[in-house]
Amino acid sequence: MVQSRPPAVAEPSADVESLGEAARSLFAALDGGDVCATLAETALKLFGADAASVRLLEGDNLRLAASLNLGPEYTSHVLVGARDSNLGRAIEERRPIAVVDLLSKPGPLADIARALGLRAMLCTPLAGRIPALGGFNLYWLHPRVLTTRQLGLAGALASQAGLALEAAGTRRDLLNSFYVMARTLEASDAYTAGHSERVTQYAVILGRALKLTGKQVQWLETMGPLHDIGKVAVPKSVLHKPGRLDAMERKIIEKHVTMGVEILEPIRSLAAGMTIVRHHHEWWNGKGYPDGLAGETIPLLGRVTAVADAFDAMTSDRPYRKALPAEVAVREFEKWSGIQHDPALVPVWTRIVRNGEFGIRMVQATARKA
Ligand SMILES: [Fe+2]
Repeated sequence: MVQSRPPAVAEPSADVESLGEAARSLFAALDGGDVCATLAETALKLFGADAASVRLLEGDNLRLAASLNLGPEYTSHVLVGARDSNLGRAIEERRPIAVVDLLSKPGPLADIARALGLRAMLCTPLAGRIPALGGFNLYWLHPRVLTTRQLGLAGALASQAGLALEAAGTRRDLLNSFYVMARTLEASDAYTAGHSERVTQYAVILGRALKLTGKQVQWLETMGPLHDIGKVAVPKSVLHKPGRLDAMERKIIEKHVTMGVEILEPIRSLAAGMTIVRHHHEWWNGKGYPDGLAGETIPLLGRVTAVADAFDAMTSDRPYRKALPAEVAVREFEKWSGIQHDPALVPVWTRIVRNGEFGIRMVQATARKA
């Protein structure tokens, strides 16, 4: 039950320094969904709110993009009409609208929030270069008066969020163009067609089996398709050479990992996932490349991708040999455990393949080229 008490004047919990920190997190978000989730989290924290939601405009509706501390009674309303809602009005008028007490301000979202025991609300429109992107709502359990300074800070946060959302869209387009580039590169070689896609699939399965965090698995999923993107810079005569490579050619092909990093560097938000591109050819014993890292100094996501990469390489046809059956590949892994591969990852992966978990047997059998 919500107790009746006079409206509280919100403490100035949000300051410029924490706003700067919030902006950094917003721009570090990987995609639009991430920006909205980060916005809900940072806004809630900055303003000491009890619940938060972010909605994006979709035609005449506002679509729920992220929420915090709001139950299914609220989140089941994925779409609400912009016209009748307070947030819709804030977007139209391009200014934050504070509702001191929800009892005095009806609206589709305000009514649901009130039914949840929330009493005060702040609706702030996002303000990027593109007008009318959407906005965020903050809710408090008790009636609340916000200061002009706080309304200003909400507006400043909304500007950063709007720009971060637009930047995420641009990054997504850029990332998609790299995915197309990687697919085109593979399509030109019958032997590697579908390689990156399978490596990504295996790495994600292994990552989940290792109980990596959602973020780590997301990195495997994002960077897997790009792990060999640097091969666009390797001459085709070397890349597609039938037969074994000589020492010089090996050196050239080894450059694909550092080239990959150089190609992707402009997308700064990918920095944390770049270890996958750079380190998927390191060996556990330090004899790999490009940095000759050994043991656990090799970033974990690089080690995971190395297992996935090696498994697909072994179980696919190559110009100089036929694909190995999964059973043989598994024995190879056991032989090279602690030499090429992390001895903690090998038993997890071999168990997955031996037990046919996640349909791995089927995947590798159908993926193999005729
Ligand atoms: Fe590679």
